[in-house]
Amino acid sequence: MFKRKIDNSWYKEISVYHIWCRSFKDGNGDGIGDLYGVLEELDYIKSLGVDAIWFSPIYPSPNCDWGYDISDYKNIHPDYGDLKLFKKLLKEAHKRDLKVIMDLVVNHTSSEHEWFKESQKSEDNPYHDYYIWKKGKNGGPPNNWLSIFEGGAWEYNEHLDKYYLHAFAKGQPDLNMDNPKVREEVKDIMRFWLDMGVDGFREDVITFISKDPDFPNGFPIPVACGIEHYKSGPNLMKYLREFREVIEEYDCFVVAESPLTGAKDALKYTSGKDRVFDMMISFDHMQANCFMHDTLYLPFSLRKLKRALSKWQTKLYGKAWNALYLENHDHPRIISRYGNEKFRTESGKMLATMAYLQSGTPYIYQGQEIGMLNNKFSDLSEFKDVVTFNNQKIFKKFGVSDKTYLKIANRTSRENARTPVQWNDKKNAGFTTGKPWFSINPNYKDINRDKEEKDPNSILNYYRKLLKVRKENKIFIYGKYKEHYKRSKDIYCYEMRYKKQKALIICSFKDKNIKFKAPKGFKLNNKKLILHTYEDVRKTKGKEITLRPYEALVYLWK
Ligand code: GLC
Ligand code: CA
Repeated sequence: MFKRKIDNSWYKEISVYHIWCRSFKDGNGDGIGDLYGVLEELDYIKSLGVDAIWFSPIYPSPNCDWGYDISDYKNIHPDYGDLKLFKKLLKEAHKRDLKVIMDLVVNHTSSEHEWFKESQKSEDNPYHDYYIWKKGKNGGPPNNWLSIFEGGAWEYNEHLDKYYLHAFAKGQPDLNMDNPKVREEVKDIMRFWLDMGVDGFREDVITFISKDPDFPNGFPIPVACGIEHYKSGPNLMKYLREFREVIEEYDCFVVAESPLTGAKDALKYTSGKDRVFDMMISFDHMQANCFMHDTLYLPFSLRKLKRALSKWQTKLYGKAWNALYLENHDHPRIISRYGNEKFRTESGKMLATMAYLQSGTPYIYQGQEIGMLNNKFSDLSEFKDVVTFNNQKIFKKFGVSDKTYLKIANRTSRENARTPVQWNDKKNAGFTTGKPWFSINPNYKDINRDKEEKDPNSILNYYRKLLKVRKENKIFIYGKYKEHYKRSKDIYCYEMRYKKQKALIICSFKDKNIKFKAPKGFKLNNKKLILHTYEDVRKTKGKEITLRPYEALVYLWK
């Protein structure tokens, strides 16, 4: 269907560094991370061996969802800089061969966006139909839908005597994508940034943009009730194709966020020349220690993790492309979740080995590369996220006290990933000379970039090695994946095969020594050891080896 003119297949060979700007680095002393800070650290970012930066939203926003509520799509939030500074950053990034990917959030705008302000004025206002306004039913909202972030999904407007839909927070009214004018606006926004020279988009909850036109009641669950009526709505493909037409005009790529989409469904969007996305952010592997959502936490299950990763590797192989990630701004820190804080360095390196030698494009979230951990917030008042507070209310309804909820939030809140990056052991972890906008993890004296930089065996230096090995060996980009010892609860072992090469990746999830026997057809040999997470390596004896706590070994035969 698309007449592809530009070969954008470079997206397969890059690695991406994800920046959540507010907590990255403050360059002007006001306590808030900004683009000055990013400019200062561009060489550091490049030194990791990544090839691109993805910015979580840096547009003007009243911050009811920290930037994911955009009030002006064609500008930069004054907290972070301005368009001139952004253009400078883009130039500097490109000079270093770093691509720049922007977050495109078009399922909803901010309620402070001009379009929404206009849309509330009257029913004949040209912007009224930019949003989903409905009359109430039986003295209440149009249906029983609940927002994912904040109470009911409908907000009443007295002046219009109508309700508007917000699948997320109240301050995030959903756009009416059925209105062709809205779709033109989206394309216009895309062109604005692409013409400026950005290299692609991460499309936020993009598979939610088409709603069931009948707006039927949803299945009654305590949060996100009604989601089944918009998680992949009737006109979704039509709209995505329209947006893709724009993408096809440029040398760029799209990574889509699509919650509640499994590997099989991902193929609908990401396979072949007619794909509407180049890859998708999967959620399955983020549920190895919870049910559906981080907040409903369970003990970590390695088998669940392996099943999820294996599914995406095998189902997409040869047909579509994976996005590989362990952290982003929506989840707690990975070492605290799937690793072991007591074995921070060991488990941090092992988890990276496990994730980034599979076929796909690696995404690394700020602070992940230096092994940052979950924070220990001492009071609920320290939190700043609408989701944390919404969950607090829901838990309260089920009789959970605030004291208990604090423990839950400390373990499961996405705010754990949003504390400022720890650059050094000086004041405010080197994040700011001013008053930091958010709590800094008190462990910064021990865990910081400068310390990691100095230690040749640090997590940071291991990430560099790992990304280099990946870059130099196509087997870790295009290889065919196969899992071994599926039933093991302690070891994740998989092979990759590419042309005549083969590799074996062995990861221990155990906090004690454990024996490992190579699978059939593999003879472990130190000469073939291309990566190891412990400083010293013991000689491999035949097929057996003892793995130390959270050790990972990678053998390559070529
Ligand atoms: C996505 C973003 C998340 C945001 C939500 C609503 O899931 O990653 O941070 O809160 O969309 O825009
Ligand atoms: Ca600042």
